[in-house]
Amino acid sequence: MNTQPIGIFDSGIGGTSIWKEIHNLLPNEDTIYLADSANAPYGPKGRENILALSIKNTEYLLKKGCKLIVVACNTATTNAIDYLRHTYPVPFIGIEPAIKPAALQTKHHAVGILATKGTLSSALFSKTSGEFASHVNVIEQVGEGLVELIESGKVQSEDMRNLLKGYLKPMIDAHIDHLVLGCTHYPYLIPLLTELLPKHVKIIDSGEAVARQTKAILNQHGLINKATTNGKHHFFTNGNPDIMKSLLNSTSTVEFLDF
Ligand code: DGL
Repeated sequence: MNTQPIGIFDSGIGGTSIWKEIHNLLPNEDTIYLADSANAPYGPKGRENILALSIKNTEYLLKKGCKLIVVACNTATTNAIDYLRHTYPVPFIGIEPAIKPAALQTKHHAVGILATKGTLSSALFSKTSGEFASHVNVIEQVGEGLVELIESGKVQSEDMRNLLKGYLKPMIDAHIDHLVLGCTHYPYLIPLLTELLPKHVKIIDSGEAVARQTKAILNQHGLINKATTNGKHHFFTNGNPDIMKSLLNSTSTVEFLDF
């Protein structure tokens, strides 16, 4: 079982930001990445839909023999991970907005969070936020339209800049000193966000923490691949493989798959 691949899925290509962290920390592991770009964005869909899509992705990865599944999508994690954990026999790693470290570190008692509607309206998010950030002014912003632009390859576009400017304004006005990225697509916006935010604002995402947790859970289950060679990686998308490839290094092959 320990030579089987790690499965990773997202509503699209954003979870490749998580794949990169996992690959850095666990270079000998094989991976299979599934980008459900044809159904992106998940954010505005209701919980039932998000759950059904998460089940479809999970069952595909299990058919491929994955030993552990990383739900590299905040929206799918906050809406579906409990169900997935109770239903399937492999360990699941999820990703949630890093509201806890931001609330612990803020000096101005003001943090911004940019995430999808599906994440911000989930029960899991309100629980985490209530538990760790009730003493802090949390400025929530739905990143409407951001995933769509990233999925169509427009990370550095004027449209993107204009949307972000509007979303950041209330946060800057509230003097945030931390911005939490609550969507795995958003790390690709860090260069633009850094340009638009005051210098002292720290941007936090959960990618590295997910990779560390993946390693810990593999260890705990005796599932670490002991190979000393570099892992093999398969990237599948039901969207545009070229756009996905542009986020990865040039040697990665991305296949179109109608799943
Ligand atoms: N990458 C997904 C997330 O982390 C994007 C969700 C969407 O498709 O709206 O939430």
